[in-house]
Amino acid sequence: MKIVNGFDIMEYAKTNNYILPAFNTTNLEMTYAIAKGLNEAKLPGYIQISSNNLRLSNPDAIVYLTRNALKKTDVPISLHLDHGKSYGDVKACVDAGFTSIMIDASHLSFEDNIKTVKKAVEYCHFYGVPAEAELGSIRGKEEDIVSEADAKTDPDLVSDFVERTKCDLLAVSVGNVHGLDLTPNIDLPLLKKLSEISPVPLVLHGGSGIPFEIIQKAKQYGLIKINYGSDLRKAYISTFGEAYAKNHNECNVIELSIKSVENVGQKVKELVTIINRN
Ligand code: G3H
Ligand code: ZN
Repeated sequence: MKIVNGFDIMEYAKTNNYILPAFNTTNLEMTYAIAKGLNEAKLPGYIQISSNNLRLSNPDAIVYLTRNALKKTDVPISLHLDHGKSYGDVKACVDAGFTSIMIDASHLSFEDNIKTVKKAVEYCHFYGVPAEAELGSIRGKEEDIVSEADAKTDPDLVSDFVERTKCDLLAVSVGNVHGLDLTPNIDLPLLKKLSEISPVPLVLHGGSGIPFEIIQKAKQYGLIKINYGSDLRKAYISTFGEAYAKNHNECNVIELSIKSVENVGQKVKELVTIINRN
């Protein structure tokens, strides 16, 4: 299938009562694995790449890889910029053909967050692409960037933020954490409150490590998208790590890369299936 527009995939998820996983890719193997896992599960979702990861690649290369990976799929998949750090990154990704964008200015003051998001949203909307923004800050390690900031999303700021920025999805901080080093502790009453106030669907970052029972409960509170990064990276890295631990002379990169697509794909399939189970 073609890369699906971000507004269309949101509509598709709402109509069919799906929750959309967004899986972080870093390279060719992970991109293929995400497409394969979603396709095997017959469920929709996002391939996403963070601004930080674009150091290794560039938006055009990711779009090219994604188009290739999706040739063998027949489930709706969108391509999302995760934790977009600048207007330049947002623009480059929209121009390259990304169909969904996050602009993350959550480290800035409330007013500067609004200002930054608003500018990015205007660009995205001009090209028919939805934009996600973050209010509050999430602790942990996201692609080597460590954040100690821990500010849960303030419900009193939500309406003003969404109305003024015109963002289409809102990433919230409710005890979710990035990476595998910290333990998430999801504040369900806060999530419930945010869902009652927010005019747009909510996004939960830091999906790796959140127990399924919690996701089940959280699902009723306006969640449309859950991000998974570390679980996939672990499946990828352990493929090579285990082979090396067994044999320090291991150098069959192609076989291990193929195996990594298999392992990461299995993890994708498992996660997308479990979060959509009723
Ligand atoms: O934006 C990406 C995610 O929030 C990934 O978080 O590595 O804890 O799954 P995670
Ligand atoms: Zn995140």
